[in-house]
Amino acid sequence: MTGARIAASVLACDLGRLGEQVTAAVAGGAEWIHVDVMDGHFVPSLTFGTPIIRALRRITDRPLDVHLMVQHPEHYIAEYADAGAAVFTFHPEATVHVQRHLAAVRERGMLAGLALNPATPLAHLEEVVADVDLVLVMSVNPGYGGQNYLPSATEKIRRVRALLDRVASRAALEVDGGITTATIADAYRAGADSFVAGTAVFGEPDPAAAVHELKRRCLTLV
Ligand code: DX5
Ligand code: ZN
Repeated sequence: MTGARIAASVLACDLGRLGEQVTAAVAGGAEWIHVDVMDGHFVPSLTFGTPIIRALRRITDRPLDVHLMVQHPEHYIAEYADAGAAVFTFHPEATVHVQRHLAAVRERGMLAGLALNPATPLAHLEEVVADVDLVLVMSVNPGYGGQNYLPSATEKIRRVRALLDRVASRAALEVDGGITTATIADAYRAGADSFVAGTAVFGEPDPAAAVHELKRRCLTLV
């Protein structure tokens, strides 16, 4: 297996120091910047919109990994593509015509991501796997940073990896929620290749060192 891709989540940033903190995470080796868009309906909190995507686009050339926890994500595909998102991930429960919207995301030149909540069955993925570039396994119930990794996510990652291998999909397998130096290795061994990390990066005094350490926890595995 190759090394772990870290998607540093700006939800845990000190927004007054956004540029400095993102630059530090990238210096530590973060490949992607993860942006959690919440609408106050699909999840209780409200967070960011396209202004922060545009701001991040000026700060870094790293791909922006946008996770939409919103109802009717299809209404935002064009807006996020124009703002500079590279990955557009949404939840199947948030809309009806999931396959159509995954295809529309690709048509706008973004990677199409499908997010699975802890209680969401793999059947949602199985039906549209050919249209998916990234599977986001939620290892917490979405809505807040700083939650604990749900141990049941590890088995779910294994099942998603088996499904992707069975159909020879090259989709990325990303895990989101509670990723720390203590949990990342379990998720990596189960078959995840990409790891969202908010608190474990920006909650640390040295975000660059924190990213480096998360990656090292995977590389030292045999
Ligand atoms: C949770 C978000 C996560 C969040 C992860 O709803 O989807 O991306 O930023 O935060 P940590 O890494 O602190 O669990
Ligand atoms: Zn997220």
